[in-house]
Amino acid sequence: MRTFAEKQGIYIGAAVDAEHLGEKNYAEILKRQFNILATENALKFEEVHPKRNSYSFANADKIVAFAEANGMKVRGHTLVWHLQLPEWVADGNYSREEWKNILREHIKTVVGHYKGKIYAWDVVNEAINKDGSLRENVWLEKIGPEYIELAFRWAHEADPEALLFYNDYSIESLNPKSDAVYELVKGLIEKGVPIHGVGLQMHVSIDNLPNLQAVTSNIKRFNDLGLEVHITEMDVRLKLPPTQEDLTKQAEIYRDMLKVCLSSEKCTAFVIWGLTDRYSWIPEAFNGYGSALIFDESYKPKPAYYSLLETLKES
Ligand code: XIL
Repeated sequence: MRTFAEKQGIYIGAAVDAEHLGEKNYAEILKRQFNILATENALKFEEVHPKRNSYSFANADKIVAFAEANGMKVRGHTLVWHLQLPEWVADGNYSREEWKNILREHIKTVVGHYKGKIYAWDVVNEAINKDGSLRENVWLEKIGPEYIELAFRWAHEADPEALLFYNDYSIESLNPKSDAVYELVKGLIEKGVPIHGVGLQMHVSIDNLPNLQAVTSNIKRFNDLGLEVHITEMDVRLKLPPTQEDLTKQAEIYRDMLKVCLSSEKCTAFVIWGLTDRYSWIPEAFNGYGSALIFDESYKPKPAYYSLLETLKES
């Protein structure tokens, strides 16, 4: 896929876990098929900054080194989120100034460690609720709504070359949540906050699909603000065990979303949330579901793989 993606001027990627990079199949397929990798968990706060005074870069370093050795870019995921926080943050008791210092130091240290090596960062992840309000998380509670713009400014200071993204789920279509994200990022741009893109996670299931026309218009409105769009975490979960018909339907969805991305002015990356069904997060997170990725548990390409490949070859 990567050869054709390069011709199309798009990055095609997968989220990866450092612990599997030593497996031959895993590493070989990544190198052959993809030109961008996302850090699935390695850069989340609890993984990379487990104690107030200690950082743990080993896993993310492995991913970045693997990507570098194979001519791939990296999407860093994620600097500010409400989940996967270490105890010292989740249960922390500090003054507002201290909270700001904690977040500033975290962002400057992590982004600084990868200066020049991480192509795009998901700076803020999932900060908006379904109804469009700001999610109540530790950062909002302790710092206030300006935590969002502060995070972008600090990330930019630490690596002025990196592309900075706001990332969220269920904002693929037109709805109150994507409207609120639109207003948020528009406001940031107006204030001169360094933001370069919006990430549409795209965790979907075959019985609850975003409308293609709406996704197209939604990407367009972000592009019209001057922002890039990345599809950041695509998977299409199926009820287990999937039928042949389900797998065909899944292939169509992957194809349709890639087509929408390719036909948009600036939808510049299409990243799948994992490589193989063997290690996907879906069975743990959605009871009774799985088979969401484009390679099966034994690394065999599924219909969805061929539909992406064909789509990249066309047009
Ligand atoms: C998931 C990982 O895939 C799992 O391994 C982990 O246990 C939980 O988080 N939205 C996001 C991702 O932004 O960080 C989440 O990743 C999936 C949903």
